[in-house]
Amino acid sequence: MRVRAMTDADVRAAVRLHVDVLPMEFLTRFGERFLRTYYRAWLAVPGGLALVAEDDGRVVGALLGATGPAEHTRAMVRRDGWRLARDIGLALVRDWPLARDLLVTRARRYAGGLYRLARRRSAAAPAAPAGPVVGEVTHVLVDAAQQGHGIGRALVAEAIAQARAAGDEQLVLVTPPDLAAQHFYDRLGWRRDGEITSRSGEVFLRYRYDVR
Ligand SMILES: CC(C)(COP(=O)(O)OP(=O)(O)OC[C@H]1O[C@@H](n2cnc3c(N)ncnc32)[C@H](O)[C@@H]1OP(=O)(O)O)[C@@H](O)C(=O)NCCC(=O)NCCS
Repeated sequence: MRVRAMTDADVRAAVRLHVDVLPMEFLTRFGERFLRTYYRAWLAVPGGLALVAEDDGRVVGALLGATGPAEHTRAMVRRDGWRLARDIGLALVRDWPLARDLLVTRARRYAGGLYRLARRRSAAAPAAPAGPVVGEVTHVLVDAAQQGHGIGRALVAEAIAQARAAGDEQLVLVTPPDLAAQHFYDRLGWRRDGEITSRSGEVFLRYRYDVR
């Protein structure tokens, strides 16, 4: 097994893995077409952490994150925002319960983001806040049949090394309290850093790791 940078050629396999191991995640509900656009957008702009674990030519693990999350998200939305919105729209037409959930929990936030983006298109990016340089890990995925063999640990170790090389001082992540992943991050030495409630009302555990 080796960990390497994810490329466009890995996206299909990484998205399959995403759907298989995180079927309950909100992003997954938008379907594989949306997720492929999302992963390609992730890879296309600088500042992303995107890794796969490959075993015998097969993708058995994947990690997404960013060394500068705010800039990475801005660049991604600027480049592919309308493609992402199109794929979300297509998913909503097919899935009315999803449309209702989106409307109830996230519509205001997403619309606000697109509005701010449109206004800021020509403006300079806002100044970075003072404080440590903080990167983020958003997804760690390991094939169900291969879990428990150190693949997740190897992916996170490489993400930490890349974040360090990029100048991050800390990495953060959030995970739902009902996922066993919290024990994984505990074992890897991440520090619990309270809970946060998203604007959609979901509670997440926050973890922090000192990269330096
Ligand atoms: C969480 C996940 C990424 C862990 O990957 P993995 O390859 O199975 O983990 P590893 O084998 O590298 O385990 C590393 C350490 O964490 C521990 N660990 C991993 N999963 C654990 C669990 N569910 N409960 C308790 N400990 C766990 C392992 O025992 C190991 O500790 P050790 O080396 O001291 O024995 C994987 O189980 C997964 O993909 N889960 C589904 C998706 C998910 O929840 N992702 C995280 C949120 S995005």
